[in-house]
Amino acid sequence: MSNVELIEKINELKKEKNAVIVAHNYQNDEVQEVADVIGDSLALSRYCANNDKDVIVFCGVHFMAESAKILSPSKTVLLPEIDAGCPMADMVTADALREEKKKHPGAVVVCYVNSSAEVKAESDICCTSSNAIEVVKSIPEKDILFVPDKNLGSYVAQKVPEKNIILWEGFCITHHRVSLEQVKEIRKIHPDALLLVHPECRKEVWEEADFVGSTKQIIDFAKESGSSKFIIGTEMGVMYKLKKDNPDKSFYLLSQGLVCPNMKKTTLKSVYNALKEMKYEITLDENIRLNAKRALDRMIRIG
Ligand code: 13P
Ligand code: SF4
Repeated sequence: MSNVELIEKINELKKEKNAVIVAHNYQNDEVQEVADVIGDSLALSRYCANNDKDVIVFCGVHFMAESAKILSPSKTVLLPEIDAGCPMADMVTADALREEKKKHPGAVVVCYVNSSAEVKAESDICCTSSNAIEVVKSIPEKDILFVPDKNLGSYVAQKVPEKNIILWEGFCITHHRVSLEQVKEIRKIHPDALLLVHPECRKEVWEEADFVGSTKQIIDFAKESGSSKFIIGTEMGVMYKLKKDNPDKSFYLLSQGLVCPNMKKTTLKSVYNALKEMKYEITLDENIRLNAKRALDRMIRIG
């Protein structure tokens, strides 16, 4: 089937099943083109909690579809590629977190949404890259156990110095491999471009940035900025919206290694198959779901 035919079939199935297609900013261009909603982790979580469709086709990675199911249990949530996981989310397990909590009895556990439902269920509150600073500031206690991303955790620690942030040894393979040398090299080539990076990058990389934010915050910043040239320090999928929103501006990817293979697994064909065969459905243990929801709801209430 050609892409045009696939899009036609996807739209028919969407109506028939009363479905909505949501896509993360890192998805392949063809998937973003067919999506009803595109966004960062926070925007997509919020959207999934408040929509009236029966079926959510989540084009992203496993933890994102799981969050949609935690927030919308009565809906059928489908992840088109069941093997689309997040290696960083796999760097913390509920068992390991329970052990670490014993070592820091008074600490409040803040868990980045890039984590499993089981880990969320063991946490006090969730955060995303767009609200991590506000989430940590909202906590009255001083000691915070921040899991799993040590790079985002150190960014928050620098912005909220009054807190004692205990870091976990987790990181995003895609963002963590960007080096300071690459920053220096590209700065030489484009000296008048602003550097916009995701906080999942190493400390020495985000310290050099002109702006640090989530995928949506980077997209919004580039649109609103008076500058016309930008070096982009996050996964290459954001280039689709950056170029679409700003045809007169120039965008340079900080490193050619900024590709998340898991985000790239979903294609138009997999979206079509997901809707046609209603796969792969996300299911959760109700006890875990309710505990994970408590941590997600506490984050969402922050606004
Ligand atoms: P955002 O919250 O910025 O969408 O990021 C999610 C993610 O997986 C980054 O690697
Ligand atoms: Fe996970 Fe990194 Fe991919 Fe985001 S970019 S989904 S953190 S592996």
